[in-house]
Amino acid sequence: MKTQRVLTGITTSGTPHLGNYVGAIRPTVRASRLASVESFYFLADYHALIKVTDPVRVQRSTLEIAATWLACGLDPEQVTFYRQSDVPEIPELTWLLTCVAGKGLLNRAHAYKASVDKNTAAGTDPDAGVSAGLFMYPVLMAADILMFNAHEVPVGRDQVQHIEMARDIAASFNHLYGEHFTLPEAAIEAHVATLPGLDGRKMSKSYDNTIALFVPRQQLRKLIQGIVTDSRAPGEPKDTTGSALFQLYQAFASAEETAAFTQAYADGIAWGDAKQQLFERLDQEIAPMRAIYDQLIQDPTQIERTLRRGAEKARAIATPFAARLRHAVGLRALDSVAAPVRPAKVAKLASPSVKQYRESDGRFYFKLVDGSGQTLLQSQGFDSPRQAAKAVSQLREHGTAALPALAHQVVTSATPEALEAALATWMAPA
Ligand code: TRP
Repeated sequence: MKTQRVLTGITTSGTPHLGNYVGAIRPTVRASRLASVESFYFLADYHALIKVTDPVRVQRSTLEIAATWLACGLDPEQVTFYRQSDVPEIPELTWLLTCVAGKGLLNRAHAYKASVDKNTAAGTDPDAGVSAGLFMYPVLMAADILMFNAHEVPVGRDQVQHIEMARDIAASFNHLYGEHFTLPEAAIEAHVATLPGLDGRKMSKSYDNTIALFVPRQQLRKLIQGIVTDSRAPGEPKDTTGSALFQLYQAFASAEETAAFTQAYADGIAWGDAKQQLFERLDQEIAPMRAIYDQLIQDPTQIERTLRRGAEKARAIATPFAARLRHAVGLRALDSVAAPVRPAKVAKLASPSVKQYRESDGRFYFKLVDGSGQTLLQSQGFDSPRQAAKAVSQLREHGTAALPALAHQVVTSATPEALEAALATWMAPA
C-alpha cells in the first residue's frame, strides 16, 4: 500500500552537475523505488522564469534535466513525472493561495530578503531589480506541493523555509475554507554529503566550480585534473580531511574502496594518480547512464511524450481537486445550490503560534508569529533544542511576565500591546 506522498521539483535553469546527482538525483531515484511511497517529480519551469530570461536556455535545461532523471533510472511508470507548466491548475491554485498568504510572511523569505539586504547595503531602493515573481516564489512553490497533498518534500536546507511557508499558507486556507490541504513536512537528507567543487568550495553553479554530470568522458578527465590539491610531492603522505578529491571519491565509492583510497593517501599517492583513480571510479558509475542520456537527448519527441503522459497522470488528480477548491472559495456556477451564508471570518487568518526550528548555523531557534505570519518575537540561537524548548515553556507559562528573564534571549518586533494580545491568545487552552 502506498501511504506516503513524496513530491519534489527541480528548477529548469541549468545543467545538472555531480553535486545535484549525489545530493538529490541519486537518493531520490533510490527512494522512488520504495513500495510504500507514491512519488511526484516535476520540472519546475515556471520557477525557472524567475531567474532565467533566455527562452532557449529554459527549453534546453528542461530537456537536459528530464533526460538526466530518466537516464539516472527514474521510472515514469512507477512515479508521476511531469512538467509544472503542463498543469494549469498549479498557477490557478497559486492565485487562491496568494489571497490567503500574508505579505509579511513573504517579506521574510530568504531569497527575497537577501536581495533587499543587498540593495540596502548598496544604498539603492530596497526593491531594485526584484521582480514580483521572486517575491511570490514561495506561493508558487506552496501550490506545487499542496496541489498534490504531499506529506513529504525532500529538499536541501536552503529550501526548508519554503516548506514551512507552504505549511503556514495551507493552514490559513484550511482555517478559512475547511480542511483541504495536507500540511507538508520537509525531508532533509541529513547523511547525504554536500559535494565540493573544483575549487574545494561547495559545488554550486553560483561559484562556477561545477562538473556537469554528463560531460563526455575525455572532458570529465580534464575537469578532474583541474581539481585543486595541495602541493605535496609524490611519496609524501597526503591528508584526506579537507581534500576535495577525496570527498568526491568517497561519494561514489564503497566503504572498502574508500578505505583503500585512504591508505593510498597515507602512502603518498601522487596527485596525478589519485585524480586518475577518481576519474575511473566516477566514470564507472556514470558511463552507463551517460550512454542512455546521450540517446535520450537526441530524441526530444520521446521525452516530450513521456512528460505529456506524466501531466495526464498529474491532472487526473489536479483537475478534480482544483474544482473542489474553486467551489470551496466561492467560484461557483450561479445556479448551483447556494449554501446558507456563513458568518464572515473576516480576513482573520490563523492564530498566533510559536515555531521552533533549526537554522543552517546548526543552532536552535523559536519565534512567535501572528496569524498573518508576522514575527512578533524572535529568539537568538540556542545550542540545544532543550534550551530553546525551556525558554518557550517559560513564555507559555508566564506570558509577558517571562520577558524580563528572557531579555538576552529574545528580540521583540511588535508593540507591547500586540505582543501581549498574541501571547494571551497563544497561551489560552484551545
Ligand atoms: N524551489 C526549488 C529549488 O529551487 C524547486 C521547487 C519548485 C520545488 N517547486 C518545488 C521543490 C516544490 C520542492 C517542492 O530547489
